[in-house]
Amino acid sequence: MSTTIYAPNEANLARAVALLCAGEIVALPTETVYGLAADASNTDAIADIFSTKGRPANHPLIVHVLDGEAAKAWAKDWPDVAQRLADAFWPGPMTLIVNRASHVLDAVTGGQDTVGIRVPSHLVARQVLHEFVNAKAKAKAKAKAQQTPSGLAAPSANKFGHVSPTTAQHVANEFVDDDLFILDGGACKVGVESTIIDVSGKNLCVLRPGRIRVAEIERVIGKSVAPMSQDSATPRVSGSLDSHYAPTKKTIMLDSDALEIFLEAARDLGKHVGLIAHSKRFASARVSARVTFASHDPARYEHDIYAQLREFDTTNKIDLIVIETPPHASDWDAVNDRLRRATFGK
Ligand code: TXA
Ligand code: MG
Repeated sequence: MSTTIYAPNEANLARAVALLCAGEIVALPTETVYGLAADASNTDAIADIFSTKGRPANHPLIVHVLDGEAAKAWAKDWPDVAQRLADAFWPGPMTLIVNRASHVLDAVTGGQDTVGIRVPSHLVARQVLHEFVNAKAKAKAKAKAQQTPSGLAAPSANKFGHVSPTTAQHVANEFVDDDLFILDGGACKVGVESTIIDVSGKNLCVLRPGRIRVAEIERVIGKSVAPMSQDSATPRVSGSLDSHYAPTKKTIMLDSDALEIFLEAARDLGKHVGLIAHSKRFASARVSARVTFASHDPARYEHDIYAQLREFDTTNKIDLIVIETPPHASDWDAVNDRLRRATFGK
């Protein structure tokens, strides 16, 4: 077998569930990005995720479950604020960090006392979860074993540090040589990873901005949220490493004025630029490769950006990728966060 994309029909969903129950990895669509899923209670399967991704073992994984009730079974305690956020945003693009229940594997949490949990809304992810949980419960009943919570641990389905995949083909391109079973759920609706909210301590904090905006979180919890710390010293959130979500090619971000000067210089040097522009003033720029105009709607921008970066990264017509700095308003937090990391140190 080689890495293959499968339509999400009944037979293939059943095959995916059988693989997961047997401790194999399956790539699944979610509404944010594609995930590399495995049985969250199977140490070997989790180890396989880390080696397939090339991810350091101390970077914890998110456990995906069907609903808020199932989420609680992975937590030691469930604060009121977790319940309010769960009611407001699940199923959907939000991950809660809570204190972990004792059955949660160290391999999943990277040895930390907390665990990340998410309830995805994508139909295919939910169908797989549903069948998987049922199959595990049946197997335990048959073996007269204790019924313990089931869930799927799933990081984004990309090699460590690389751009997250938003189509099944992106996943296939990442893992050409890995014999991976990929379920096709179409292009991801959101396009960037979930908003991660840590509710395990006294003060709630947003560890990774995403489609669920800080203003929405504040409305739900009824108080303001401290600004995100950009301290990247800790690997608790692997996306918090400065260089992450990054294309292979040189990728830089410039404000409009600097961009104009840069483009002229690049042209003089015969460099082929893939430009992701925001303002129309670049419509007439004589860029020697390609210009695409990014949306002025941050949600649309989020939806498109990873696919665009991947396209520029793979075409041999482009030497480097240049991005016009997007607006700094808070609705753009997720975009700015990912682009800052995609362009860091390049
Ligand atoms: O949208 C998403 O969240 C996607 C889809 C597949 O669900 N998943 C995803 O997983 O982005 P991953 O592993 O690529 O990123 C999850 C982030 C990592 O940066 C990890 O460090 C952080 O969540 N994380 C997981 N558990 C954590 C914990 N206990 N404390 C702090 N951060 C945690
Ligand atoms: Mg990731």
